[in-house]
Amino acid sequence: MREPWIIGVSGASGTPYAKAVIGALLDAGESVDLVVSRAARLTLLDETGATIRDAHWKDDVAAWLGRELGDLTYWPAGDLAAGPSSGSYPAKGMAVVPASTAACAGIAIGLSKDLLQRAAEVNLKERRRTVVVPRETPVTRSHLEHLIALLDAGAVVLPASPGFYGSGADATAQQLIDFIAGKVLDSLGVEHTLMRRWSGQIGER
Ligand SMILES: Cc1cc2nc3c(=O)[nH]c(=O)nc-3n(C[C@H](O)[C@H](O)[C@H](O)COP(=O)(O)O)c2cc1C
Repeated sequence: MREPWIIGVSGASGTPYAKAVIGALLDAGESVDLVVSRAARLTLLDETGATIRDAHWKDDVAAWLGRELGDLTYWPAGDLAAGPSSGSYPAKGMAVVPASTAACAGIAIGLSKDLLQRAAEVNLKERRRTVVVPRETPVTRSHLEHLIALLDAGAVVLPASPGFYGSGADATAQQLIDFIAGKVLDSLGVEHTLMRRWSGQIGER
């Protein structure tokens, strides 16, 4: 039985995190179901120049990821009858990466305004691994309260705040992106080689 990881890309800055997570999952031989919110189309366009059209998703997602898709399925964000909208649809879990404050709020209160929010809510209710990668700074009290609600519902809250210890002060943007993607895969329990792990020795790289 096919059991994908659902990857929800919401409209926060940080689409390269999503690209790194999806690539590493596919490299690990995992199946991926992709949901891109309407707002994420704007951040994708702004940050990468990529356009994703529902009717041409295979070409568009392959162009964005810069690779062959492998076992990747795409569901339009407006399709509330899509597989991931139901708890009986097989899935290993879900990562919302990056997660907008709006998506965090919507998932936290069960708004289900689109497939991304509904799929995340379904994952939480089914007690499947759910990782949320918020990207906003500074934050309000309500942002924090929504994150606490997600934590209480069983999500791993994994802020997009990369550490520099893996690559040092001269870290490249890609190394910092891969640090976060690696932490997401750690939380999902999928092996990867995205980042250098702490060895226990100061300055050892
Ligand atoms: C270029 C751009 C960058 C944005 N960056 C962020 C961000 O970093 N964090 C955030 O919470 N919202 C950000 N937003 C706002 C969200 O896109 C907006 O709240 C939207 O309603 C989120 O919808 P979604 O959760 O359905 O994707 C950004 C919007 C744009 C156009």
